[in-house]
This record gives sequence, C-alpha cells and structure tokens, in this order.
Amino acid sequence: MFREKFIENIRSELSDLKVQGLYKNEYEIITSQQSEIEIYHYASKKKLLNFCANNYLGLANNQSLIDVAKKSLDEYGLGTASVRFICGTFDLHKHFENKLASFLGYEDVITFASCFSANGGIFSALLGDQDAIISADLNHASLIDGIRLCKAKRFFYKYDDMADLEQKLQDAQNHQVKMIVTDGVFSMDGDIAKLKEICDLAEKYQALLLVDDSHATGFIGENGRGTAEHCGVEGRIDILTSTLGKALGGAGGGFIASKKEVIEKLRNKARPYLFSNNILPMVAATGIEIIDMIEKSKSLIKKLADNTMYFRSKINEAGFTIHNAQGIHPVVPIMLFDAVLASKFAKMMIEEEGIYVIAFSFPVVAKNSARIRVQISAGHDKDQLDKAIKAFINVGKKLAVIK
Ligand SMILES: Cc1ncc(COP(=O)(O)O)c(C=O)c1O
Repeated sequence: MFREKFIENIRSELSDLKVQGLYKNEYEIITSQQSEIEIYHYASKKKLLNFCANNYLGLANNQSLIDVAKKSLDEYGLGTASVRFICGTFDLHKHFENKLASFLGYEDVITFASCFSANGGIFSALLGDQDAIISADLNHASLIDGIRLCKAKRFFYKYDDMADLEQKLQDAQNHQVKMIVTDGVFSMDGDIAKLKEICDLAEKYQALLLVDDSHATGFIGENGRGTAEHCGVEGRIDILTSTLGKALGGAGGGFIASKKEVIEKLRNKARPYLFSNNILPMVAATGIEIIDMIEKSKSLIKKLADNTMYFRSKINEAGFTIHNAQGIHPVVPIMLFDAVLASKFAKMMIEEEGIYVIAFSFPVVAKNSARIRVQISAGHDKDQLDKAIKAFINVGKKLAVIK
C-alpha cells in the first residue's frame, strides 16, 4: 500500500508538471553532437539544425579529437576504475591539469567528473561556520547546492547590482573568510558579470572571489581565457571553476583552478573528488589537444564571435526583443515573455522549420520573462544561420510576435 501511495504521488506531481508546461521532454539524437543533427521523431527520423547546444567551439565531433580519443582508448582503456587518490590518477590527468593551469594563468588545477561536482565539493572543503559566502542571485544550481552543503553564513546580492553587493559585503564584515561567488556568464541571459567592479569591491572588503566560467572558458576573451580576460581582471580571481562539457569538447568533466595550496587542500578534502571517479583518460587526452588548438589559433573563437554578432544583428533587425541587445555572448535570449507563447514558438520552430531551439519559462527564468534561448556555435555556417533567422521571422510573423 505504502508503495502504491508513493508512486501515485509521483504520478500526480508529474501530471502537474505537464499541466504547468514545466515537464521536460527529451528528443533522442541519433547523430553526433553537431550543427545539423538527426532525431527520432514520432517513429521516423527528422533532420534539425541545432541551435541549443553548449557546443560553442563546434568541437564535439571534431575528427582529429576523435582520433586522439581513440588512441587514448587503445592505450589507457575505458576508465580509471578507481578514484584519484587510490589508483585513479593517470599521467594524462596530471598533464591536462598542468596544461589547463598554465592556459588560464593559475598555479594548479584539479579536475572533477563534472563542474556540478566541482561546485558541489568546493565550499564545504574550504569554508566553515565562521565564514561567509556572498552569492549572486542568478548563480547556477550547482553553486547554490554546493553552498547549501557548507556551514558558512549565506548572503545573496542581485547579480548586477554593485550597491547591493557592497551592502552585503558590509553585512558580512564580521565573518572570518568572506567569499564572493558569481557565474562569469549567466547562462539564461548571456549576461557577463561585472567582474571589474566585483574585483574592486572584493579588494575593498578583503573578500575572496570565486567565478564559475562554464559559459566562457575557451571562447570569451581575446584568447578564450574567459570572463576575467574579457573584463581585464586576469590574476584577480582567486578561484575559477568551469566545465569540459561545453566549449572544451562537450564530453563532460569539470575543474577548479587556483593557488597550489587551495588545490592541494581540495585533493584532500573535496568529497566528490575523494569519493567519485574522475574524468576519463580519453577526456584528459582530448582536453590537452583542445587547449593546444585554442592556444595555436584564434580562428574558432573569431568564427564564433562573428557568427554571434551576425545572428544577433539580424534578429534585432527583424524586430525581435533580445535580452541585452548590445550583448556579445553566443547565448542569445529571444524574449517572448509569455510561457505558452514561448513553448508554442519553439514547437513550431522544430516541427515546421527544422530548427532545434528550446523555450525557457518560470521557474528556470523569472515570471513573465519566457524566452527562446538560442546558442550560437563556431560549427554553424552562414547558410545555417540564415535558415535559422528566416525560420524565426516566419514563426514570429505567424504568431504575431513581429510584423
Ligand atoms: C554555470 C554552470 N556551472 C556549472 C554547470 C555544470 O556543468 P557540468 O555539466 O560540467 O556539470 C553548468 C551546466 O549547465 C553551468 O551552466
């Protein structure tokens, strides 16, 4: 009886999600991740141009990286079959961590199975009940959860309101260690954190600064070193966390970059590092290659920036409202405000236009700010961008979003 009741409650929750338009459907992709994909669609196959992947540099199916991965599979096998400190540290892990550290300008790097794990483990490893975390309100779920696992006192500031941040830093003055925590780029908006002002406030109130650069590492900043490079504050971010699951190949994995003592402490205290397997040898091997590629040529970073500015300007011209129209990030939030309209828009883009985009509405974004979040890639060519722009115009007119 108790089991039936448990399952019945879940069923009712799931049907509520469907009624509220919050249920998440998953399409099955039957190709590699790339700008044109194929999915299963009502028992047949359908080709779509993909405009919602985090595949910013278009590397997820790069042939030379696949070759590196295959070679590493031959040499190192499938995985570590151990956590790092027992017998799960391969030379590839060390090589990759050193390479990433030198690319990003830090003393050392520690990798994790994901950035969610990295963010989940860092706060409880470094901070205690005498300390304070001052966290941006729009921070990623993994930072929010990681912060919850730690005993430090929490303060929240509005992510772009520096007066609010200063107030919270004053409120937190009596705590021992104070740490400001922010996303480098807020993923729903493509907004870049005001790192220059944040660094100045951190200095003024003697607070450390942690930045999650998952939506920036590898492609934001002239050399792809992220939001610190873009904002001119390299060397002023104490701790950087980021992912390998987006621009850096998309396979999965996360990391933390900082001073060597911080990283050494994390190797000894961060629970997801101590109690969970690390990145696959294959991911470390391709990671080394990807950093090499980014260091040797800026062509992918440039192509992504050009694609982004082209798409943003054409969508603007067509009469759509882009959140932060002056923005430069390949996350392009096309605002529809109404949740039902946004979900209908995305469905028509997929069904009628062959463009894979997703609608986001409350509670993922604020109420009445539903949107289609487009993500541009260096893997898109001009023809694909034009097809997507045309599709937006067609559906926008049909739904009377634009004239
Ligand atoms: C800002 C931010 N941090 C962390 C993560 C988690 O990354 P991972 O997929 O490596 O766990 C994401 C992914 O959505 C993200 O957007």
